Amino acid sequence: MDQFIVIDDFCKTFGKGTVKENKVLSHISFGLDKADFGVIVGGNGAGKSTLLNSLAGELKLDSGKLMIDKQDITQTDTTKRSVFISRVFQDPTLGTAPRMTIAQNLALAYKRGQKRGFKPSVKKDDLPLFKKRLKQLDLGLEDRLDADMDSLSGGQRQAVSLVMATLTKPDLLLLDEHTAALDPHTQRLVMQLTDQLVREYGITTLMITHSLSDAVAYGDKLFILNHGELVKTVDRESKKSLTIDNLFHSMGTL
Ligand SMILES: Nc1ncnc2c1ncn2[C@@H]1O[C@H](COP(=O)(O)OP(=O)(O)OP(=O)(O)O)[C@@H](O)[C@H]1O
Ligand SMILES: [Mg+2]
Repeated sequence: MDQFIVIDDFCKTFGKGTVKENKVLSHISFGLDKADFGVIVGGNGAGKSTLLNSLAGELKLDSGKLMIDKQDITQTDTTKRSVFISRVFQDPTLGTAPRMTIAQNLALAYKRGQKRGFKPSVKKDDLPLFKKRLKQLDLGLEDRLDADMDSLSGGQRQAVSLVMATLTKPDLLLLDEHTAALDPHTQRLVMQLTDQLVREYGITTLMITHSLSDAVAYGDKLFILNHGELVKTVDRESKKSLTIDNLFHSMGTL
């Protein structure tokens, strides 16, 4: 049976035909079932962000096909994809609008795919949902709906970004080292929130991390990239018994 997300033979070379030619994605193929939480690891420059950027439609592949729920969306542009593919970035300032309030940011996310005005109006009817979702974070943000985004700490912003990215359940959630800029305590908190939201709403997710402990502790499947190639896939069963030592060893011997 077809998988929910099918990444079929993604290839990308930067600087083709020049001395700087760099094969960044080389025949990458894998799939995810609905509600799968996939984790991607690999050294610097392995091609992880390039893969996520191409899934978001920000980067044009040389070849390859992307299917979501049996629909071929290879030619669908970033804006259209953003209706059903959401992202949280490494930089806490990137996912949210700094001079808008928490409520306005959530209203913007809630309108995803609908026609947007310049500054979103916050509908009174939507407030209970926004409050409910913020309360789940347990950071007291449900009482700060009118606070400007840029008055929040990096961890609080990442938490709100996660709520925004999951508010209208996306087909695919992309997380590119979204905890890397946070202090260790906040990293743990945001990682736990991520897992909680992904599980509660059954969101199909791909997360890049350099944290081997997170790669072992979270997610259902693991993909190791090295020099643009998918060198190892750890399936659901094997992932249950994966240890940091085994993973470190598999990555170290590449
Ligand atoms: N727009 C671009 N033009 C040219 N080369 C690029 C471009 N984007 C990425 N690259 C190159 O592609 C390779 C893979 O980069 P990518 O950002 O995907 O790596 P990564 O696995 O995310 O690394 P990191 O762990 O450091 O974030 C690198 O060699 C990088 O220099
Ligand atoms: Mg990267």
